[in-house]
Amino acid sequence: MPVDNEIKGRLALVTGASGGIGAACARDLFAAGASLALTYSTNKTALDALLAELQPLAPDRKLSAHQCDVANDADLTRLFAEIQHQHGQHPDILVVNAGYGKRTSNILDITIAEWDYTIAVNLRASFLLTQLAVPHMLAQQWGRVVYISSIAATGTSINGCHYSASKAGVQGLSKNLANKMGKDGVTFNDVAPAMITGTGMIPTEEHLKGTPGDVSNIPVGRAGSTQECANVVTMLCRTGYITGQSILLSGGLK
Ligand SMILES: NC(=O)c1ccc[n+]([C@@H]2O[C@H](COP(=O)([O-])OP(=O)(O)OC[C@H]3O[C@@H](n4cnc5c(N)ncnc54)[C@H](OP(=O)(O)O)[C@@H]3O)[C@@H](O)[C@H]2O)c1
Repeated sequence: MPVDNEIKGRLALVTGASGGIGAACARDLFAAGASLALTYSTNKTALDALLAELQPLAPDRKLSAHQCDVANDADLTRLFAEIQHQHGQHPDILVVNAGYGKRTSNILDITIAEWDYTIAVNLRASFLLTQLAVPHMLAQQWGRVVYISSIAATGTSINGCHYSASKAGVQGLSKNLANKMGKDGVTFNDVAPAMITGTGMIPTEEHLKGTPGDVSNIPVGRAGSTQECANVVTMLCRTGYITGQSILLSGGLK
């Protein structure tokens, strides 16, 4: 079988492109020649600004914006119907990035509602998005799925155990599917970032002061950038020989 790692001309769906890491992934995949379907939940202004920035760079390339609360099953089904209608196909590349995490670190302070919502946004939606995306990928024997998990899945976290559990679940989902669909040309990997500034979660290094993610605890001595996350996501999309991996992007933090 010939090796096909071409991104140019593919359609990438990036959820949460109104946020820091999602926007950086969208920019990077667009620069690599992909068409984009991008989602926001509440921040339409940010996504509109991203579209206004990108579209003039390649006026003929198809870009679309979709409102989608990933905790809402009907929104997910509608998202895929809108993509089919606007692009004439389902995505070839799926970047499951939209995520939610509150800094409630003590288990005794985590309500059941907070547990359920965190699992719904981070884990349940990852399953449902993947279920919606894989039929097209299997039919064409080519697909790339990249989940944005977190160092919290296995290590240091400024959030609580509910967030860690949701992200560890995503890693399990990814590794299971990687084994099952490797021979079908569909790869599954996750990028596990830590302390990425320029995001709603961590606007600046100031927001890490006094937490386990304080830059004084990070071996490289600084926080990570959204572009560094995007670099890894694009690399995984371009490298079909990597599947079932969690790439820790943490400046050496464990
Ligand atoms: N920043 C870090 O250091 C770090 C570390 C580890 C993992 N992560 C993960 O990276 C991913 C991106 O986060 P970020 O750091 O870029 O933070 P961010 O700037 O706050 O972006 C979060 C994105 O998720 C979207 N979102 C939140 N709840 C949603 C929902 N119910 N339905 C649909 N979309 C929803 C937001 O949409 P709206 O703004 O439009 O509502 C936004 O686009 C998340 O999965 C997060 O867990 C981040």
